[in-house]
Amino acid sequence: MLKDRSASFISGRGLRAIFVCFQELTCSLQKHLQRERETATPVVVHGIDLDETLVQRARERSKDDPGITFERLDIMDDDAEESLRSYLASAGRTKFDVAFCFSVSMWIHLNHGDSGLALFLGRLSGLCRRLVLEPQPWRCYQTAARRMRKLGEPEFEHMNDIKFRKEELEPFILRTCSESGLVLKQTFGTTSWKRKLLLFEHPDEFK
Ligand SMILES: C[S@@+](CC[C@H](N)C(=O)[O-])C[C@H]1O[C@@H](n2cnc3c(N)ncnc32)[C@H](O)[C@@H]1O
Repeated sequence: MLKDRSASFISGRGLRAIFVCFQELTCSLQKHLQRERETATPVVVHGIDLDETLVQRARERSKDDPGITFERLDIMDDDAEESLRSYLASAGRTKFDVAFCFSVSMWIHLNHGDSGLALFLGRLSGLCRRLVLEPQPWRCYQTAARRMRKLGEPEFEHMNDIKFRKEELEPFILRTCSESGLVLKQTFGTTSWKRKLLLFEHPDEFK
């Protein structure tokens, strides 16, 4: 998917290409996009994650690469948006070219419920021109809940009150994205995790 799309992900209008991404894949993504781009335009990626240890580890791994920064951030915090906006402002931009969000939506949904997932998608939508989303399907929620039970850990806070579950989950995600102005441009088969990869964009940004 990235091979096909990476050139078009990058804005020709800005000084540099900016991406926001959740932790793990950030470094390989930046290298891939920079290689694909094959121009002097730097590809700049800002990785965020809730987990301080993961962020520290990622910083250590990428310390010699000026194109990559990491921030410990809970995207659900009230000041998360402001923090990302100040990152963008420091780069002279108002939006990320693309936000990549792999395997995160379920954790937001389980920990913050339906309204939390809607808030998350709306927040991402307001911050990017395109969104690549790999939402976990309902079977992953069941697996995660089973794992917690086996470990003797408490249930996820919202496992039982999630209204948009099973076959209602994907329509809810699509509807929420659409309500925030994102148009689904493409669905890229399935990843090696047997999950769909959805590409959304804000049509106004590409006129
Ligand atoms: C399954 S991992 C996926 C990591 C990465 N996107 C990948 O595909 O390798 C989910 C990640 O989401 C992060 N996460 C969960 N809730 C978050 C939140 N509210 N804000 C920021 N990161 C969060 C977790 O800390 C975890 O590292």
